Amino acid sequence: MSSSPHIQSFFDPATNTISYLVADPASRQAAIIDPVLDYDPASGRISTCSAQRILDAARADDLQLAYILETHAHADHLSAADWLRQQTAAPVAIGEHIRQVQEIFGDLFHLQDLTADAGDFDLLLQDGQILPLGTLQIEVLHTPGHTPACVSYQMGDVVFVGDTLFMPDYGTARADFPGGDARRLYRSIQRLLALPPSTRLFLCHDYTGSQRDRHLWETTVASQREENVHVRTGISEQAFVALREQRDAGLAAPALLLPSIQVNIRAGRLPPAEANGTRYLKIPLRLSAGN
Ligand SMILES: [Fe+2]
Repeated sequence: MSSSPHIQSFFDPATNTISYLVADPASRQAAIIDPVLDYDPASGRISTCSAQRILDAARADDLQLAYILETHAHADHLSAADWLRQQTAAPVAIGEHIRQVQEIFGDLFHLQDLTADAGDFDLLLQDGQILPLGTLQIEVLHTPGHTPACVSYQMGDVVFVGDTLFMPDYGTARADFPGGDARRLYRSIQRLLALPPSTRLFLCHDYTGSQRDRHLWETTVASQREENVHVRTGISEQAFVALREQRDAGLAAPALLLPSIQVNIRAGRLPPAEANGTRYLKIPLRLSAGN
C-alpha cells in the first residue's frame, strides 16, 4: 500500500472548479489534475493566470511534473492542459473512452483534423492502469456516467473523483451529456463507495449548497455513504436514476459548453490562428423546432 501524496488545491471562483497539484514527497514527482484556462466569453480573452499559479507552486516546491491528468472532457471551463504541456513537456492523459466523446463532438464542430487515435492526448488510460509517480502509484478507475470517458485517479487512500460525486449536501453531477448515463453513474459511484470508509475523496467542483456558503471539495467515503443527498446508503439504483433524470430534464446547457468542449476534446489545444493571426472558436447554430 503506497503512502499518501502531498496535495495542493486551487479553486477557480469563475467556474467553481478545483484543480490539484499532487506530489510524491519522496521523489518530488508531481501531477496536475484538471487545470483551468481562464476564459472570458464576453471578450474572448484567455489567460493562463490560474495555470501559472499551479506551475509557480510546483516550482516553489522544486517538483518535477510527470503528468497532466484530466478526469474528463469538461463542459464548463477550458482546460489549460496543452499550455502546461508546452511549459513542462509533461504528457497529457485522459480516459481512453475520450474517443467516444471526440467522435460525437468532432462531428458537431466539424473538426476534420481530429484523428481517430485521439490525436492531442499523449496517454489514453485504461481502467486499472497504473501510472508510477516516484514512490507512489496512480491507479486509473473508469467511472463513467457523467460522461462515458470519466476516470477517477486513486493514490493510496486518496481518490480524485472528477465529476462523479459532489459534496454530500449537493449530491451528484448531471448525466445527460451525450454518452452520459445515470445508471452507469450510479454504478461508478457504488464502486467508489465500496472503498474503505476513511478514503478521502477530492472533487472537481463545488457549488456550495443551501446550508453553507463556503466552498468545500474534500470528503470521505464514509460521509458520502451516510449523507449524500442523491446516493447515500439505502437509495436504490432505480430511485437514483429517476431522481437524476428528472433533475437533468430541467437543466440548461452549461454556459461554456460549446467553447469548452471543442477545446477540451483536443487536450486544451486552441484552434490554429487564421491568416490574420487570430484564433476563433466555433459555435454551431441550430434552428429551433417551429421556426
Ligand atoms: Fe464535468
